[in-house]
Amino acid sequence: MAKLSVTDLNVTGKRVFLRVDYNVPMEEKDGGMVINDSTRIKETLPTLQLLVSRGARLVLAAHLGRPDGKREPTMSLRPVAEKLATMLGRPVEFADDCVGEKAEAAAKNLKDGEILLLENVRFHAEEEENDPVFAARLARLADIYVNDAFGAAHRAHASTCGVARIIKAWGGTCAAGLLMLRELQFLGDELEQPARPFVVILGGAKVSDKIKVIDRLLDKADTILIGGAMAYTFKLAHGGKTGKSLIEKDHVGTALAAEEKARKRGVKFLLPSDTVIATPVDTGKLNKKGRPVYDLQNPRVVSGDIPEDAEGFDIGPETAKQYAAVLAGAKTILWNGPMGMFEDARFAAGTTAVAQAAVAATRDHGAKSIIGGGDSVKAVNKAGLGGKVSFASTGGGASLEFLEGAPLPGVTCLDETTGKQS
Ligand code: 3PG
Repeated sequence: MAKLSVTDLNVTGKRVFLRVDYNVPMEEKDGGMVINDSTRIKETLPTLQLLVSRGARLVLAAHLGRPDGKREPTMSLRPVAEKLATMLGRPVEFADDCVGEKAEAAAKNLKDGEILLLENVRFHAEEEENDPVFAARLARLADIYVNDAFGAAHRAHASTCGVARIIKAWGGTCAAGLLMLRELQFLGDELEQPARPFVVILGGAKVSDKIKVIDRLLDKADTILIGGAMAYTFKLAHGGKTGKSLIEKDHVGTALAAEEKARKRGVKFLLPSDTVIATPVDTGKLNKKGRPVYDLQNPRVVSGDIPEDAEGFDIGPETAKQYAAVLAGAKTILWNGPMGMFEDARFAAGTTAVAQAAVAATRDHGAKSIIGGGDSVKAVNKAGLGGKVSFASTGGGASLEFLEGAPLPGVTCLDETTGKQS
């Protein structure tokens, strides 16, 4: 059943607790924190504008980073409040704690159409513990709950679901925001009965991370294309040599079982026929996380085994061509996980080729192209193709869990369309 939409609410003069995912990448610059990518803020603007135009009094809650229940100045949402005010072209008040007297007074003093952003909810350990007393303190700030934080909907935290339960128990309504509804539509409804051929591209580091998604999509897809480091576990499973590549020996059986399931269901399951490899040489230096830094020397293409001293970093040009040809005929495309280490330009060609092919299929014959979030969205944006796919999810872990078919606590806590309206 569909979730109650924010558009169905009567919000005029009411305080709306709006959970958003403003967990945006930031970096320190000249002693302050600067936002590197404001996509997640931009994507919430339609919900905000709708609520403001209807005279709601908005109390925004979000997390930033993982401060582990402590006040961490570099993870303050204050710069987000400033950015949001600029993007909306209207003032955004900031409360330097998400609960307590000051937050309550600020929420109470809001007038119709005014906006208050609360400080990082994760400055309190009770947020991630989904502590009911803390959730009730948040709930005191509003009459209605709206969740637009799809990216955090896989977390069962106080602000993502605990507060909804309390507002509901107090007789209030809990609805989905416009971004949340779009995410559920593209990653859910659109893939229920996809236009065919339905081609799924899966990449990323590990088979174990993606096996549930593979399993679920084998029931729906016509073709699955595999890339990224997880392809090396498949290579190993077929008796190939993988050199120093990232592999999961324990999941060789998982990989073979997935292929067997695909064969039985008549789903084409393609593995890379060539690989861009390089030889990692230890520089003797350590990175910020204390891990050894390797110089990746002599990038080259191999079509068979990966030599002992080398590691795979991207699909090769033949594979990229083959995958692009499959995508050219697709009517629905779902992509999750890059084809290689796209952050390094020498290993970005495979990922870029797949992004270009998805965009071309969308542009040339109206294929629906859905990018499943996280690194794949970063890669599409890096290739300058961000606005050219049908939908790019704002969720990383959330989109993966949703595609696996897992119920998301931030979604299940919301009212259904048939539920009562405010
Ligand atoms: C994300 O960036 O994926 C979400 O904001 C969730 O963040 P988390 O993984 O720290 O819970």
